[in-house]
Amino acid sequence: MTAPRVLIMGPPGAGKGTQSRTIAEAYDIEHVTTGDALRSNKQMDISDLDMEYDTPGEYMDAGELVPDEVVNAIVEKALADADGFILDGYPRNPEQADELDGMTDLDVVLSLEVGRDELIARLTGRRVDPETGENYHVEFNMPEDSEVRERLVQREDDRREAVENRLDVFEANTEPVIERYREHDGFVEIDGEQAPADVWQTIQDELDERLG
Ligand code: AP5
Repeated sequence: MTAPRVLIMGPPGAGKGTQSRTIAEAYDIEHVTTGDALRSNKQMDISDLDMEYDTPGEYMDAGELVPDEVVNAIVEKALADADGFILDGYPRNPEQADELDGMTDLDVVLSLEVGRDELIARLTGRRVDPETGENYHVEFNMPEDSEVRERLVQREDDRREAVENRLDVFEANTEPVIERYREHDGFVEIDGEQAPADVWQTIQDELDERLG
């Protein structure tokens, strides 16, 4: 079997990052995530593009999409270096989907489905451990270790206003891309409102069936 090439899609807060980490480990493939790559390069100078903002971080904090030129280059390099991947956070608009078509074929396209109220609760309550990158939640999932609890931070784009904007940007730009992937042979819709372990079980069953 060649190494699996899997795309995971879904709105902000659907659980793409949570599930991708497990998928990458279980199938021994690369987790290619534009969100994490951009967070590591928030201060990068992109003023030569002469667009609204001069760094990726300013787009991200506002909940806007970072310009395609920046994101396409990140993904192209990451996929060229990967032997099998789970791609998370890209493509987010039809132009990026066209780019991806030219970079690689996909074996499976997972679409996590979660309603807007649940997404808002998950995102505004999310807290991140800056040392490990692990995600927690103020109501559902706090760490037992008090040292970890005290160092948790909220992502700038998890403030209510930015969350609402990210969801609007998703509906306008990314939903049409998901509609397009419904035609793909490997497209599968996943109920993302189940508990994380149940979402993972559903994904694993689908991947095992489709990857053979
Ligand atoms: P990115 O980091 O990709 O953010 P996102 O897509 O908004 O996704 P999130 O990380 O918020 O959510 P997720 O689906 O990964 O959910 P998670 O598993 O964390 O992008 C950030 C920004 O970067 C964008 O806004 C944009 O500016 C820029 N960017 C990135 N890619 C780009 C691109 N291609 N083009 C242009 N710009 C780009 O889970 C969320 C929370 O819910 C956690 O607290 C988790 O513990 C909890 N949770 C997860 N699963 C469950 C469950 N089943 N039940 C209950 N709680 C759960």
